[in-house]
Amino acid sequence: MKITHYEINKMPIKVIDEAFDHELLLENYRYIRKCPFYYFDYSYFDDPNAKEPVGNGTQWIHPIQLEDAHKYPIFESYQNIIKKETSFESLERSHINCHFFGDIRNPHIDKGQINGLLFLTPEWQPEWSGEIIFYENKKAALVLEPLPGRLIIFNGKTLHKGGVPSKSSTMPRYTLTTKFLTP
Ligand SMILES: [Fe+2]
Repeated sequence: MKITHYEINKMPIKVIDEAFDHELLLENYRYIRKCPFYYFDYSYFDDPNAKEPVGNGTQWIHPIQLEDAHKYPIFESYQNIIKKETSFESLERSHINCHFFGDIRNPHIDKGQINGLLFLTPEWQPEWSGEIIFYENKKAALVLEPLPGRLIIFNGKTLHKGGVPSKSSTMPRYTLTTKFLTP
């Protein structure tokens, strides 16, 4: 396991690599390929103090019911790492996102929460793109590749944009997103 610390706008970003076995990522991938996804409409904000959203978007998501979380092959290991690496034990909600080439993503914040973002696609080539971008003063400040099994823990108030895979990608960019209840 390899841990790298960053800081954007005085808020920490923790990146955990090589924490998940490749076989576990493959097994989990086979499982989530059979899960139903629906096209979800949402509004997004780019400023924690804004009263009105800056825009609307759509994305494919698969919500995880916490009572079913044990069925996902990777979930137990994921929760163990979260318990070890953060002070958060309670998950507020979890879902899996699925991004394809041609999707649209916008810089946004997730109000008042700590986020866990785990890249679930078991293979990722650099030319497939899909990097997540974190912004400082609305300028790109940190770019992270969606490496298989990479886990990013960050404050949802940090402006960020999920990456869209390039035309050459042959697998969708699956991510497990978890919001944690802040103490
Ligand atoms: Fe987000």
